[in-house]
Amino acid sequence: MSKTVIVYSFNSIKSKKVAEKIIQAFGKDKITAVNAEEITTEVFKNNDNFILSTPTWFDGELPNYWDEFIPDLEDMDLKNKTFAVFGLGDQKGYPENFCDAIGILVEILESCGATIIGKVNNDNYTFESSRALRDGKFLGLPLDQENQARLTQSRVEKWVKQLKKEMK
Ligand SMILES: Cc1cc2nc3c(=O)[nH]c(=O)nc-3n(C[C@H](O)[C@H](O)[C@H](O)COP(=O)(O)O)c2cc1C
Repeated sequence: MSKTVIVYSFNSIKSKKVAEKIIQAFGKDKITAVNAEEITTEVFKNNDNFILSTPTWFDGELPNYWDEFIPDLEDMDLKNKTFAVFGLGDQKGYPENFCDAIGILVEILESCGATIIGKVNNDNYTFESSRALRDGKFLGLPLDQENQARLTQSRVEKWVKQLKKEMK
C-alpha cells in the first residue's frame, strides 16, 4: 500500500492549524505527520505521496526550515513519487509575492523528477503577482489566513478530495 505523509512546521501556528484541517479531511489513520523542521532525506525515500506545507516569508522566500533542506532535496531522485504543496500567504500585505514559496518548492521538486498534483484554479484571490502561478493555474493550494480565513475549510475539503483522486 502506498504511504502518505504531510510535512509542516510543528512550531508554526497558522500553518499547523491548517495542516490539522487537512489531516482531518484526509483521515487521521491514512496519513503521517512529519515536522518540517526535522525533515530528512529518509522521509522522502520511505514514502510515496507527500503533502508539503510552505508559508511564504521574507518577501517571496521559503521559510528557513525549507531553505536549509533544499541542498539535500536537490540531490534526490523523486521519480514515481507524488507531491502536493499548500502554502499560507497574505495577498493584501504581500500582493507582489503572494504565496511565492509554493512556486519555489514546486520548481525544485519538478527538477528532481517528482509528479506534482493538487494544482488549483485562480478563483477568488486578489493579488498582483505570484511565482506559484503557471499558465493561469496555481501549482499548489494557496491559503490566506489573514484575509480569507473563512474560505480555508471549504478550500481544504475540496483540495483533499482532488488529491485522493490524483494520488497513486
Ligand atoms: C516578515 C513577513 C514576511 C512575509 N512575506 C510574505 C510574502 O512575501 N508573501 C506572502 O504571500 N505572504 C507573506 N507573509 C505572510 C505569511 O506567509 C503568513 O502570515 C502566513 O500565515 C505565515 O504562516 P506561518 O505562521 O505558519 O509561518 C509574510 C509575513 C511576515 C510576517
